[in-house]
Amino acid sequence: MASGRVLVVGSLNADLVVRTARIPGPGETVAGSDLVIVPGGKSSNQAAAVGKLGGDVAMLGCVGDDGNGAMLVKSLENAGVDVSQVRALEGVSTGSAMIAVDDAGENCIIVSPGANGRLSADDVNAAADFFATADSSSVLTLCLEVSLDAVKAAARNARERGAKVVLNISPYMKVGADLLDLVDILLVNNHELADLTGQAEFDPLGDWTSVIEATDAALGASGPRTVVVTLGAQGARIIDLDAGTASQQIPSPKVKPVDTTGCGDAFLAAFSFRIAAGDDLEQAAAFAVRVGAYAATGEGAQNSYPTAEQLASWTP
Ligand code: RIB
Repeated sequence: MASGRVLVVGSLNADLVVRTARIPGPGETVAGSDLVIVPGGKSSNQAAAVGKLGGDVAMLGCVGDDGNGAMLVKSLENAGVDVSQVRALEGVSTGSAMIAVDDAGENCIIVSPGANGRLSADDVNAAADFFATADSSSVLTLCLEVSLDAVKAAARNARERGAKVVLNISPYMKVGADLLDLVDILLVNNHELADLTGQAEFDPLGDWTSVIEATDAALGASGPRTVVVTLGAQGARIIDLDAGTASQQIPSPKVKPVDTTGCGDAFLAAFSFRIAAGDDLEQAAAFAVRVGAYAATGEGAQNSYPTAEQLASWTP
């Protein structure tokens, strides 16, 4: 079955990655590997992941007129993403992310916005051709590496075309009803869920009664009623706020992680791709945990994402 189009509005970053035995604490200096610069950025990662899986996907965002911007556009083109709405801004640096990855494949990331910070609501509203390609089978994916005004404008335009809106509240910040009311599905990892609910201690696979209540209170009655929670190696769960229930664990294949950078983006992309293809929430999440796990087995974000063929022949 042909799948609907996935639209991605948001960030593109050059990932400046250093591997180190362990992530340093405050005030600490540790030795690391040589620096590598690879394509990243949460939104750009999502677009690349959908494209590699064979989905119909277009990206809207900004890079600088520098080598990193050219690298990012090339990576998206190679993945089959429509980049006609990715603009290179004169005299501006491409967004970047400083990333340390430890021996367990865990990472910590600091993002510097660069050109991502220049994407305005007016830019988004002016992209009529971009949103004209969306319909009720489409999904828009969003994160918070561009301004809230740009995010809201994108959600509004997509909604007008009948598309579903999936928001990843990352990097985490408190957002208001003016954005939440435009979102159909919220996607958070366990850290973001803790930030959202104020419940730092919850058993990922246990009883989520209090987590569901706290999520409901945090999102308000008019916000998204479906929350997909990624749990790293433990897979994912889906909260249905209308029913007041959480799904059982949707388990992830077991892998030895090499680099977990961008695994959440791979999950979100694969999930959105399958929702656009007509899957229900649990089917889409079951596919997405497999793509997320695959992404953990390779270095970098976009460079670690599978094609549909690689995924089909993969035995974890
Ligand atoms: O989610 C991973 C991404 O976060 C990295 O690629 C980095 O660019 C930051 O945006």
